[in-house]
Amino acid sequence: MLTIIPQILIGAIDLVAAFLFMFGLQRMSSPVTAPSGIKVAGIGMLVAVVASFLYAFGVDTAAKPFLTVNLALAAVALVIGGGVAWWVGRKVAMTAMPQMVAIYNGMGGGAAGAIAAVELFGAKYHGTVQLVVTLLGALIGAISLSGSLIAWAKLDGVLKQPFRMRGQQGLNSVFILACLGVGGYIVYAAQAGASPLIDMPHLIYLFFGLALIFGVLMTLPIGGADMPVVISIYNAFTGLAVGLEGFVLQNPALMIAGMVVGAAGLLLTLLMAKAMNRSVSNVLFTNFGEIVKHKHGDVKGALKPVEASDAGIFMRYAKEVIIVPGYGLAVAQGQQKLYELVKLLQAAGVTVKFAIHPVAGRMPGQMDVLLAEAGVPYDMIFQLEDINDEFANADVALVIGANDVVNPAARTDKSSPIFGMPILNADKAKQVYVVKRGQGKGYAGIVNALFYADNCNMVYGDAAAVLTKMIEAVRGLGSKAAA
Ligand code: TAP
Repeated sequence: MLTIIPQILIGAIDLVAAFLFMFGLQRMSSPVTAPSGIKVAGIGMLVAVVASFLYAFGVDTAAKPFLTVNLALAAVALVIGGGVAWWVGRKVAMTAMPQMVAIYNGMGGGAAGAIAAVELFGAKYHGTVQLVVTLLGALIGAISLSGSLIAWAKLDGVLKQPFRMRGQQGLNSVFILACLGVGGYIVYAAQAGASPLIDMPHLIYLFFGLALIFGVLMTLPIGGADMPVVISIYNAFTGLAVGLEGFVLQNPALMIAGMVVGAAGLLLTLLMAKAMNRSVSNVLFTNFGEIVKHKHGDVKGALKPVEASDAGIFMRYAKEVIIVPGYGLAVAQGQQKLYELVKLLQAAGVTVKFAIHPVAGRMPGQMDVLLAEAGVPYDMIFQLEDINDEFANADVALVIGANDVVNPAARTDKSSPIFGMPILNADKAKQVYVVKRGQGKGYAGIVNALFYADNCNMVYGDAAAVLTKMIEAVRGLGSKAAA
């Protein structure tokens, strides 16, 4: 009896976990419900962990994913891992979130790879299908681990420039083909029944080594502008690797969580590729590693600084203002001040809208979350395709801490790394104000001709400080502001 009940119980608990994952994910589709969605998915993860521990008790040997479960070791790992994640999660700055997500994503891939390693070194041969799935999960998990670490280094600024060299695509192909070859040989040798896998540990090491190196090589050449697609691809890879290893362990919670993450990552990849106006195959097989010789264009015109107060007063007398937030707003943590200014402008009869570019910031959805955090109503926030035509009617486009997402080079300059990417048409507004601290470039590292345009003025300073001055100026108009 004791051997039957826990299996049913574990199945039921896994089902609850799966439901919580999907319900949580569904709530993450809107910034308003996303915080509760994250909590629901977190509870789902806790439930799945409890279910995994139950495998150690009373389930008959055939149903056990492991022959031996070291409960003490698992508990220690959980406490250390959970403790570190909790501590880091509480301390991490909003702007460092993308790096943190990248590193956690890599750990997910690494964990899937580690499960595969345990299976491979465990010398258990359960048939060709199981072995192929284990190796596939190992390959994808290892690529995701090393690739995500490079993505972390790029997002964190540890790696400032993409590393490119002649023949890079060829070298990448050699490594991935060699890795597949070793994997194929492992399957062949195991099938021949000659030896348990324990007899060929050197091949397993080689397999993992090649996969890890391939992950590094694949990510190193990628330039700043392509990072959104890369992050999403590794997200999908990790989900897929976890799902495959869930199949190997016959653990439903892992299978479902992995497939949900994999599918979500795949959809995100398609969305990000669409946002960059690249097909996924183009990103995967063509542009990765391509050396783009970008001439920093012959930008005409001059930078024309104005005072924050003047820009604030100008906006107060405008009919319509469209705000383009970017990474710099998150750096300055100026979202609350921005909404304070917006409310003042609205009180004075100005129509204000927010225009969000899908790759603004350093993480998909970062700007939506930032604005939701400040309490900006969702109906004021518009995505690129819904607002782009409206810039031509707007009196002011306020570009605040954004750069690449409003760079007109994407439309015209074929040598630009962002060529072809749809941009927000801020340059079409009658007047453009760009808030930034100085001459710093955007993530893609290129000059922005918009800043030199006749209808554009620069408001230099930290976004939060500039917004404070704008608020003071609009407030200073006193009763006139309410007119
Ligand atoms: P960016 O092009 O990175 O430009 C941000 C601008 O903000 C900089 O030019 C910087 O100029 C300014 N800035 C920084 N700190 C500031 C502060 N405290 N106050 C005021 N301004 C500040 O940002 P974006 O327009 O949001 O574009 C996003 C870029 O990141 C794209 O190239 C995208 O491909 C890439 N990317 C996106 C993602 C995702 S998924 N969203 C992931 C990785 C990379 P100063 O230094 O002069 O102030």
